[in-house]
Amino acid sequence: MESSTGIAFLDFTEKDRKWLHEAYDVVGPRLDTILDEFYSALDKIGSGPEAYGVRREDLKKRQKGHWHQMFQGNFDECYENTARRIAIRHLEIGLPQDLYVLSYLKILSLLSGAICGIPGEDRAHSAEMVEAVTKAIAIDMMHAMAPYSAEVL
Ligand code: HEM
Repeated sequence: MESSTGIAFLDFTEKDRKWLHEAYDVVGPRLDTILDEFYSALDKIGSGPEAYGVRREDLKKRQKGHWHQMFQGNFDECYENTARRIAIRHLEIGLPQDLYVLSYLKILSLLSGAICGIPGEDRAHSAEMVEAVTKAIAIDMMHAMAPYSAEVL
């Protein structure tokens, strides 16, 4: 599927793009900590970066770059090409599909926790930012899953 399908289905609007940017202002500076927590969770199940032959600091740099791009909320051709390349890379390294899905939801949970934990932030605005992030993650995950679906078919 194209990003435009996800955008239409999820009703990702200009407001969502704005809230996504505002969310990034909050979570951008916390991405290192968020990814450390993500890797700790992977370690718990014996699936940390090293289990796939990669150093976590190297992986962190790449993942941070990708989240930065996703938080722009420009699901254009450049974004799609990158998202597709990343998805194929995970299939190549043998990342199981179920762990890939869980990883997206774990990251979403960590991002939501960071957004909702902002001291003094208006609750309604936190909810708007979480909703926008959820939509963006869903679009990203749609691309991530695509090569796996092709394999099954
Ligand atoms: C939300 C989920 C994930 C995202 C957004 C993500 C993001 C990325 C990105 C951006 C790259 C670089 C791809 C490229 O430039 O070719 C990458 C590669 C990679 N990822 Fe992930 N990743 C995710 C989940 C995981 C998980 C759970 C693991 C397992 C520990 C993992 C292991 C790897 C490995 C081993 C590579 C290849 C690195 C290399 O080519 O040297 N990823 N990932």
